[in-house]
Amino acid sequence: MATPRGGEAQASGTKRNYDDVNKHKQPSLPGMKSGCDESSELQLEAFTHFWPWLEDALPGCVAIPPLARTHMITLADYGCSEGGNSRKQFRLIQEALRKGGALEAEHGAPALQLILNDLPTNNWARCVSNFVTGEGAPAAPDNYTVSLAPKSFYSALVAPAGTVHLGVAICAMIWLSSPPAGSAKDGICHLDGGEETRNNFKRQADADVDAFLRLRAVEFAPGGLLFIVVPSRMGSSSCTTALYAPIHDAASELAAKGEIDASLLEDLVMPSYIWEVEELEAAAMRASREWEVLQRGTASLTHLLDKFRADGDAAAYAHTVVGTFRGFGEPVVRNRLGLNDATTKRLFAHAEELVTASPGNYELRNVVSAVLLRRATARRSTSLDM
Ligand SMILES: C[S@@+](CC[C@H](N)C(=O)[O-])C[C@H]1O[C@@H](n2cnc3c(N)ncnc32)[C@H](O)[C@@H]1O
Repeated sequence: MATPRGGEAQASGTKRNYDDVNKHKQPSLPGMKSGCDESSELQLEAFTHFWPWLEDALPGCVAIPPLARTHMITLADYGCSEGGNSRKQFRLIQEALRKGGALEAEHGAPALQLILNDLPTNNWARCVSNFVTGEGAPAAPDNYTVSLAPKSFYSALVAPAGTVHLGVAICAMIWLSSPPAGSAKDGICHLDGGEETRNNFKRQADADVDAFLRLRAVEFAPGGLLFIVVPSRMGSSSCTTALYAPIHDAASELAAKGEIDASLLEDLVMPSYIWEVEELEAAAMRASREWEVLQRGTASLTHLLDKFRADGDAAAYAHTVVGTFRGFGEPVVRNRLGLNDATTKRLFAHAEELVTASPGNYELRNVVSAVLLRRATARRSTSLDM
């Protein structure tokens, strides 16, 4: 079994009514901030850590029908964002497929189709540039094609039934489909809220992951692999110490000066979920007729913190951690706190000042969990004839 790379790893190894899925709420996210490609190191670090699982499993996956017989291998990236990381991930997958012999069929190589999925509000122009028109876009021979699926992965299929062979959802399911009711005095994460807030978030997260797996079960071919990586926690450790806490601390100080509405701040709980790997595994067990768990694990990755410890540049460290939060969280914070341009600027500048002054209070541990699931192959009906 392949061991994930680096970090303090802890690896271990129903079909329902389709209307249920369609009833699921649309997400209320304003979308990522433009330019988030530049602040997505943590997502790539998480993918890279768990990549050996997928690299190892791919040859086995391509050796079984229907992949062994297909003329089109379909990969889906759920929550691709601007595509900078997706492109790097895609190259690794393409290489592993090539090594596994999947791209060398007897009667001509099968075509490779990549479906890029994100919310309609995503920066699709940047994504197309990353994959098709821009410098360094993967070479586009005749047998390679990209399609865009601008829709919520909680409420829609991105491909016809039974056609997807490999799917990745890297740090995308941190976002819930809609913001659960909640408030928190000491932070902006559901983990900082009271029991009711935490329960509301957990209920929503469970419903969302169930909807996600039901939809993927429809669009996946038997034997297909689904690789999910999510921000997670290990005891009390999570990425929120460095990413969410400085924003909350800076906002509290601006609220004390009357620049931010304190009651809005108390009601601001990011509509995101910090998972435990057991919760992902439990979701796969609830859908065990469709999904089999091949791998599961959690790791605490520290390359940005290690870099800061090596170079001691607190201002650069602060800029990176606050920039990472801004990449995904700025539109939400701005919207929910009703901030204008000037206050938004002051808020994030002050968050950087706090981290620069006391980096020890905001240590970045990129705690992530992953599961590698396989779409169950069709069961034969049992014959009672002897
Ligand atoms: C943190 S980014 C991760 C980007 C990329 N996967 C990577 O590895 O860098 C999460 C992405 O998931 C997208 N996302 C969140 N909820 C979504 C949903 N319901 N449907 C589709 N995409 C969603 C966000 O818009 C965002 O672009």
